[in-house]
Amino acid sequence: MSFISEDSISEIFTNCIKSRLIHQENDTSVIFYDFNQLANRISTLKAAFPDNTVHTSAIKANPIIKVLEKINELGLGVEAASEGELFLAKKSGFNSNQIVFDSPAKTRKEIEFAIESGIYINADSFMELERIHELNNLIKPLSRIGLRINPQVGYGTIAATSVGGDYSKFGVPLKEYRIEIIEAFLIYKWLSGIHMHIGSQGCSMQMLLNGFESGLQLITDIQLKTGNNIRFFDIGGGLPVSYHHDQNPPDINEYGTKIQELLKQYKLENLQLITEFGRYLHTNSGFTISKVEYVKQYIDSNTLIIHAGADLFLRECLNLGQWFHEFTLLDKNGKIKVSNSKIKYHIAGPLCFAGDIIARDIELPKADEGDYLVIHDTGAYTFGMWSKYVSRMFPKIIGITGKSFEIIRNRETPEDIYKFWSV
Ligand SMILES: Cc1ncc(COP(=O)(O)O)c(C=O)c1O
Repeated sequence: MSFISEDSISEIFTNCIKSRLIHQENDTSVIFYDFNQLANRISTLKAAFPDNTVHTSAIKANPIIKVLEKINELGLGVEAASEGELFLAKKSGFNSNQIVFDSPAKTRKEIEFAIESGIYINADSFMELERIHELNNLIKPLSRIGLRINPQVGYGTIAATSVGGDYSKFGVPLKEYRIEIIEAFLIYKWLSGIHMHIGSQGCSMQMLLNGFESGLQLITDIQLKTGNNIRFFDIGGGLPVSYHHDQNPPDINEYGTKIQELLKQYKLENLQLITEFGRYLHTNSGFTISKVEYVKQYIDSNTLIIHAGADLFLRECLNLGQWFHEFTLLDKNGKIKVSNSKIKYHIAGPLCFAGDIIARDIELPKADEGDYLVIHDTGAYTFGMWSKYVSRMFPKIIGITGKSFEIIRNRETPEDIYKFWSV
């Protein structure tokens, strides 16, 4: 288990203030991302899975270009879910054969582009298979096209990110359409893979393994009944991480070992696995620090107004109580505030709606105006969901490599905001 400790965060922040990488007046929120932490996650992931596995990082979890370039350098591919993400992937240096294209809303133009470029496509429905079939003449023997199924192994604890229950907007439901799925592999000889993704956070390892086993059973059936020698099994992402520093997350080594045992049991060791992790790779590699602009103390409540709310923490605000972050309070110089007596604070953002609250009743030492609040474990699904509501400027992102720091994304300027809303 590896979290970035509050002591190192305090040291990093202090150094960035001293070196003027952070301008305290303007940088009211700053995002940090640790490349060594990412590299460790990647090497652990590679070691846990069969050697021929193609690992990709879900771009939506963390689309920062410098991060994508690092991922490329470290030998992973990417999972793209839109035309924009395909473009980011190409511009960040990924070859077509390192890109997996998932999306339930692929247009004909996007499908054509992906097939022509040799990008791996996961069709989300029978309807999409028909569209692909219209482009039959573009498909080459080595084209890689899979079908996303929903193994219907149950819902996780977070409804908004559970996609493996009886109903899901993604994939073909396996229980009701098993026969038709098998037939599809008979009709569309170019189909060469199965894809699934069960959910993101909130799904137990056992649930993911149940999905994996259903996939293996289906692949065995398809091979027997159609002679289609399926080459790929894309198992999606979804391994939960821990946001609680006193709790261990599911162990990726155990997950990989069980997957290898199942492959052996079904005599499918030759199958090439593809993974699409996002949260596992990025969450614990990032943290955010935001200035306490006001401390609102009333008889019944205390609220810290900071500069990061639903713009940066969309899920946390919209599904309050379903997501969790640890918090640490720093003084204006970046030193950790310590006190035996704690006060309960609501943590509120700067946006103009009542739901702009990241967390409630968080116990912290007494806060003062000008302090800084650390929001831990924000490397995935935070800035990737940035909202332009109230036209606030996207914060600066600082990349950390050992003891060196560099800006990997500049803070937006008022001009950038103007440009966004202009013709
Ligand atoms: C199709 C697909 N693959 C991969 C992922 C990444 O999931 P996670 O970040 O939980 O690993 C997602 C995220 O929801 C997804 O929708």
